Amino acid sequence: MNRVNNGFSHSVFYIISLLLPLISSGLCMDPFSYDQTLKSESECLMEPPQATVTTGGGGFRELKINDNGGIRNVVERTDLEEGNIYSISAWIKLRNENQGKVGMILRRDNGRKVYGGEVMAKKGCWSMLKGGINADFSGPIDIFFKSDDLAAAEISVQNVRLQRFNKTQWRLQQDQVIEKIRKNKVRFQVSFPNESSLKGSVISIEQNKPSFLLGCAMNYRILENDRYKEWFVSRFRLTSFTNEMKWYSTELVRGQENYSLADRMMTLAEENKILVKGHTVLWDDKTWQPSWVKKITDPKDLKNVTLNRINSVMKRYKGRLIGWDLMNENVHFSYFEDMLGTNASAIFFSLASKLDPDIPLFMNEFNTLEYANERIGSPVNVKKKMEEIVSYSGNKKIKGGIGAQGHFPPQQPNLAYMRSALDTLGSLGYPVWLTEFDMAKCPGQVKYMEDILREAYSHPAVKGIIIYGGPEVSGFNKLTLADKDFKNTGAGDLIDKLLKEWKQGPAEIPIQNHEHNDEEEGRIIRFSPEISLLHGHYTVTVTNPSMKNLSTSFSLEVTNEMGHHLQEVQLVINA
Ligand SMILES: *[C@@H]1O[C@H](CO)[C@@H](O)[C@H](O)[C@H]1NC(C)=O
Ligand SMILES: *[C@@H]1O[C@H](CO)[C@@H](O)[C@H](O)[C@H]1NC(C)=O
Ligand SMILES: *[C@@H]1O[C@H](CO)[C@@H](O)[C@H](O)[C@H]1NC(C)=O
Ligand SMILES: *[C@@H]1O[C@H](CO)[C@@H](O)[C@H](O)[C@H]1NC(C)=O
Ligand SMILES: *[C@@H]1O[C@H](CO)[C@@H](O)[C@H](O)[C@H]1NC(C)=O
Ligand SMILES: *[C@@H]1O[C@H](CO)[C@@H](O)[C@H](O)[C@H]1NC(C)=O
Repeated sequence: MNRVNNGFSHSVFYIISLLLPLISSGLCMDPFSYDQTLKSESECLMEPPQATVTTGGGGFRELKINDNGGIRNVVERTDLEEGNIYSISAWIKLRNENQGKVGMILRRDNGRKVYGGEVMAKKGCWSMLKGGINADFSGPIDIFFKSDDLAAAEISVQNVRLQRFNKTQWRLQQDQVIEKIRKNKVRFQVSFPNESSLKGSVISIEQNKPSFLLGCAMNYRILENDRYKEWFVSRFRLTSFTNEMKWYSTELVRGQENYSLADRMMTLAEENKILVKGHTVLWDDKTWQPSWVKKITDPKDLKNVTLNRINSVMKRYKGRLIGWDLMNENVHFSYFEDMLGTNASAIFFSLASKLDPDIPLFMNEFNTLEYANERIGSPVNVKKKMEEIVSYSGNKKIKGGIGAQGHFPPQQPNLAYMRSALDTLGSLGYPVWLTEFDMAKCPGQVKYMEDILREAYSHPAVKGIIIYGGPEVSGFNKLTLADKDFKNTGAGDLIDKLLKEWKQGPAEIPIQNHEHNDEEEGRIIRFSPEISLLHGHYTVTVTNPSMKNLSTSFSLEVTNEMGHHLQEVQLVINA
């Protein structure tokens, strides 16, 4: 690439280093602990791996399984200390049944039970159960492993391990992962023709578009209120519409489609360079069908109108969306399966992936991260449903996606559980999104929201987050980000803080005297230090005011899609 600017030209090369100086942080690569090795989650091993000592937390313990008293699967009691996060892992195998869900339960002396996590265990090999607890009390607990469907004697448990993290340690661990998964090291090598062209030269960078987007839902009120619109477009680059694309909105009367609101919101988003995730092609809950659909009793008729719906909405917005919620809540509900057959969701995925093969098609479910004791929309069940869809004939290569709505209750979240839930969802290899994240007001709301958002951001499977909130005028009553005068609430301040933190600020890159300084054919070569940059699209500008006002820009993609963590950028400044 050669460009001429103010009489100067430069060449830009991107060299992806083959020597991989992977960040040698204290990140533990031990499959038992929170190393986020997604693969280990889905593997079922012939032998449970032996213990190795981990880093990143304190209080590491290997717990003994207590067979005394004839009660199997009770692990010895252990003391928790308030304010700490305990991650707990165990290896589970079934003796006879082919597979079954096994959960971890932590029981206090007062009888209160906390659910810590769940795994789909199998016969003949060992599956890892991960999870844990945010201790909001000090005192002893007993750890149990049990199943709703299986007898205790059916379940073998081994290598139960517990690790304690204080809040600082947990945060440190998140930051180490963020460094690894959301950033690259970048180093500039600049070759100048002579000393005077070196002197005064400045490299500056500006991120135009972060790879990871924290978005926000919007609704039709944005079309009516300029201040809402202004508030929105000055912050967000990613959105989804709450109801306007839903079937009950676009075809209130059979055969009379009206996309007016969705179209106008789509235009608003596009005019402001805001990406849109479609929500939702179908909703598997009977309650939320258009009222005329609910009255249909003939499956053939329902099939006809449903296929019309999929075709209509997906063709209309093809090429304009970054993903579609194809099936909303098809783990909790089964309207289409009940009416059309057990493979209804799978058939819709098959059809939709042909209509729009380029974007991920999501299942979108609630309670998956929010409640450790969820029985229906649990990560294991969501994973199982997606696996069924993919195993349906012809669906092997569909682009799937997992949406976890994330309507969290107003209380301290169980981050250890949330992490294990994301591990389970992520083990499918599809992008995982928090699609409707909110929390009602409560004394700890802002802190809890921050904990959840950071947990999501530091998980490698999570590719996007959409907040379900807005300014008071938007009518998002649960999560208000700004009051009627558009003054931020505490939650609004938090979102602004994270938007800023998750976007790289503009910076000048120092050109250093470096041990690798070199001279080649009389040219002077200098290096910048290795700098850590958030993934995304950048503009790099080289200026030198003393040199006929040299100023030249080019774009740079910082990404580890090639699997490399160091990018070297060569700049050749020429006359
Ligand atoms: C957390 O643990 C670290 C490392 O052991 C320690 O230095 C720090 O003081 C602890 N922080 C709190 C808040 O307990
Ligand atoms: C379509 O919807 C818009 C917005 O709700 C409404 O103003 C318009 O009258 C509708 N068009 C028809 C033909 O019903
Ligand atoms: C399918 O439904 C559409 C409108 O909802 C209707 O126009 C069409 O006649 C139906 N086709 C059949 C075969 O029932
Ligand atoms: C659903 O799909 C599976 C896998 O393709 C198939 O074995 C099964 O027979 C189908 N069930 C029905 C009711 O069509
Ligand atoms: C550089 O640009 C500034 C402002 O545009 C101008 O005042 C100055 O004369 C220029 N210097 C040279 C060497 O061209
Ligand atoms: C340094 O190089 C620049 C660009 O090639 C040229 O314009 C300038 O005259 C050179 N200066 C000296 C002192 O050689």
